[in-house]
Amino acid sequence: MSESENILEELDQILQNGLNALQQVQDEAQLGGWRTAHLGRSAPVMQVFARMSSIPKEIRQQVGQKANQVKIALENALEERSAVLRREALERKLTAERLDVTLPGRQPALGRAHPATQALDEICAIFIEMGFQIYRSPEVETEELNFELLNIPAHHPARDMWDTFHTTTPGVILRTHTSPGQIRAMREMAPHPIRVILPGMVYRYEQTNASHEMQFNQVELLAVGRQITFANLKGTLESFAKRMFGEGVRTRFRPSYFPFTEPSAEVDMECFICGGKGCGVCRGSGWLEIGGCGMVHPVVLQNGGYDPAVFSGFAAGLGPERIAMLKYHIEDIRYFWQNDIRFLEQF
Ligand code: PHE
Repeated sequence: MSESENILEELDQILQNGLNALQQVQDEAQLGGWRTAHLGRSAPVMQVFARMSSIPKEIRQQVGQKANQVKIALENALEERSAVLRREALERKLTAERLDVTLPGRQPALGRAHPATQALDEICAIFIEMGFQIYRSPEVETEELNFELLNIPAHHPARDMWDTFHTTTPGVILRTHTSPGQIRAMREMAPHPIRVILPGMVYRYEQTNASHEMQFNQVELLAVGRQITFANLKGTLESFAKRMFGEGVRTRFRPSYFPFTEPSAEVDMECFICGGKGCGVCRGSGWLEIGGCGMVHPVVLQNGGYDPAVFSGFAAGLGPERIAMLKYHIEDIRYFWQNDIRFLEQF
């Protein structure tokens, strides 16, 4: 056999050995080993290149070409094997980590509205159906709006009805009721008729007990127009009580005093627990207080930009926490802001 045939056969063998060995390769690591062994610097095919100068001139070109073909064939085979291995690995991964989409999902824990917010929303929804619009008014308020413009001058004994949190800025306080919003709404809307509710938090510097908190919500009610009467006020609050507590519930108005309404009244609801007979919840009276109300005082109308000779109005302030306490038999108002999950989860 000639030397050229010898070397060419050797190259065929090199290729065959390489391809055979490649079939045994099962992963990336083995693939690296194979690359070093069959295409690395001391691989058989590379040895042939190294020997080139000692190969007779007549066959050098033929051997060179053949060696190149073998090298390229080995490189291509490596590429292919590598692709196959990658595909197999991916398939294994997909099978092993398959998602069973038929399994029932895990329910995320859902939060919910705070019971005071729920009561507030319910109250607002009822008045919105009666044609009232929600009017937002700030919780940090001036003394002027919270008191003076509501016909409560400085040093007037009526101020004692509202123990106040003051800020470090003179004349700026936390609102003690939602009534200053009456002035804001009137000043924005005068001389047009008004039908608004003002929901939100109020603050009082108060000794807390089962029925008194330092912060609580109020829903202020304000209607201003040309022929608004006390009958409208009674009708509105009576329909509200019926919607909130049931058709059969009765309401009563007790004369009272507020500097910004004249006449003023306290609105009570027949105790729905005992039906008016008297029980522990209503302390034997048969009635439960849900808020204050009255006809807007002429001075307040004037401060809001309405001529009291032409316009009249009614206003009321309801306590959503009080209402929720009655509805759900909650015996202590302090539960609302204690953030005890055992309380909150019941609503
Ligand atoms: N602002 C009064 C209070 O907080 C309630 C009230 C509102 C009374 C509107 C009359 C009219 O006590």
